[in-house]
Amino acid sequence: MATMRNGASFGGGNGGRRSAEWFERRDLDGFLHRSWLKSTGVTDETFRGRPVIGICNSWSELVNCNIHLRGLAEAVKRGVLQAGGFPMEFPVMSLGESLMKPTTMLYRNLMAMDVEESIRSYPLDGVVLLTGCDKTNPASVLGAASANIPSIVVTGGPMLNGRWRGRSLGSCSDCWHYNEELRAGRITEEEFTEIENSMSRSNGHCMTMGTASTMACVTEGLGLTLPGAAAIPAVDSRRAQVAEAAGRQIVELVERDLKPSDILTPDAFENAIRVLHAISGSTNAILHLLAYAGRVGVDLPLGLFDELCATTPWLVNLKPAGEFLMEDFFYAGGLPAVMAEIADLLHLDAITVSGRTVGENIAAGSIGNRDVIRPASDPLDTGGSLVVLRGSLCPDGAVMKVSAAESHLLQHEGRALVFEDIHDLAGRVDDPELVCDETTVMVLRNAGPVGGPGMPEWGHLPIPAKLLKKGVTDLVRISDARMSGTSYGAVVLHVAPESAVGGPLALVQDGDLIRLDVEGRRLDLVVDEAELAARREAWTPPEAKDERGYRLLHRDHVLQANHGCDLDFLRGRAAVVADAVTYL
Ligand code: FES
Repeated sequence: MATMRNGASFGGGNGGRRSAEWFERRDLDGFLHRSWLKSTGVTDETFRGRPVIGICNSWSELVNCNIHLRGLAEAVKRGVLQAGGFPMEFPVMSLGESLMKPTTMLYRNLMAMDVEESIRSYPLDGVVLLTGCDKTNPASVLGAASANIPSIVVTGGPMLNGRWRGRSLGSCSDCWHYNEELRAGRITEEEFTEIENSMSRSNGHCMTMGTASTMACVTEGLGLTLPGAAAIPAVDSRRAQVAEAAGRQIVELVERDLKPSDILTPDAFENAIRVLHAISGSTNAILHLLAYAGRVGVDLPLGLFDELCATTPWLVNLKPAGEFLMEDFFYAGGLPAVMAEIADLLHLDAITVSGRTVGENIAAGSIGNRDVIRPASDPLDTGGSLVVLRGSLCPDGAVMKVSAAESHLLQHEGRALVFEDIHDLAGRVDDPELVCDETTVMVLRNAGPVGGPGMPEWGHLPIPAKLLKKGVTDLVRISDARMSGTSYGAVVLHVAPESAVGGPLALVQDGDLIRLDVEGRRLDLVVDEAELAARREAWTPPEAKDERGYRLLHRDHVLQANHGCDLDFLRGRAAVVADAVTYL
């Protein structure tokens, strides 16, 4: 007989679980909780004395990348039942990159609140998080990190490779590529339509090393998924098998009381950052990891990403920086093969949701195709694929994925061509009279966390049509926006503080000299300080767009990019105690 916090008591072998506060009480509350649950057709034998496992499902018909997650939930349920648990699937808000405007990032924190509060308020002992499209993964992890009950992530897996006329097509790196081919007149409208029809061949998330694939790998690197799960294609039967295994494993995690706070340690963050660099993953992962760290109280300075990058070889040859796609990555051994190659750089004793350490998880990892996953002895690059810049244009930092840029632009001086916002850019970029050449530095402002709002993926500014026609394939482009993980180019992102709150980006004018020095990690606006002071004095903030609801909450509380764009009041975590007394 165990005694609950409020003095009520319960019988049975429930080990003092949270769910017992609801279902094992000998009072009117317990009667009602059990009685109403039985209205769904279950009996005492189904749930009494068993751990209750939530299956937090971001399935939505609005989110094509997550459309198959109902099926995966059934696999998770099989595993939970096999292990003696009681599964309860529940929906949460979902975020789809392709349809949601202006950007899913605006709503990442709202979905995280949904996940956290759903876990907190229901009788769950553990949770399996079903994720897919870019932001559904970090939103789920953020919510689970703050709720802090035993949790396992099951990602939905990537789509099969796109194929067109014998060529691989990666979503959405090849969208940008062929769109520029179309704008330059090198392919026809008919061919562009054929490509549209050949790109997305199955369920799953984007199959380049974009943000969804990156976050799947980073989640595995953190130890929050079962080993080997990140790369399995969505439609491969092993995807459902790993979901079933996660269902069994979450019951064990509940028995061991192994929580996200036990897994998301400083060592785990360092492992995840190493993974991010070894796969040459999306810059978006930086924002999400910074936000996770804020939830669990880990000190994670932006500069650590640069520091660890310098000594982490780039091994995974996937688009947008490389050649292959996620299906190839899976056949080549997936993330365990990569982590085994960089084992000497990892904290091998970090504990993971498998119940084993990182070292144990990757012991059998080996490379099956050395074109796709390079051995550490023959990397694509020895390190430094992603840099953190500082300077007068970005006092609180900016990031640049140098592996995606043309190398001649990494040390560069050029004159600014400034676009006030995305509408200004869209209206003028293809103007034949635009004053620009191959040395121009394109600047976009009012695209940050407040200005966007939500820091949209507008950082991959299109190259002006007049330069494309001259054969220019890359330019230095600077903004306070993010960039799709599937994009590429000499693109400086996440400039902080952003222009909408008065950061130096707000002061740049056409023709100003901008100096990019990747080797020295500098980004500077070469303008006289007295002139800048005068411009600062004359600056006024852009007119606020959102005056009510969640967008107002976001505008007033969102943190800058160097803190991961979390809402300030969401940092940290709440004690998730049951508070089940309703009827007295
Ligand atoms: Fe969902 Fe790319 S659109 S992952």
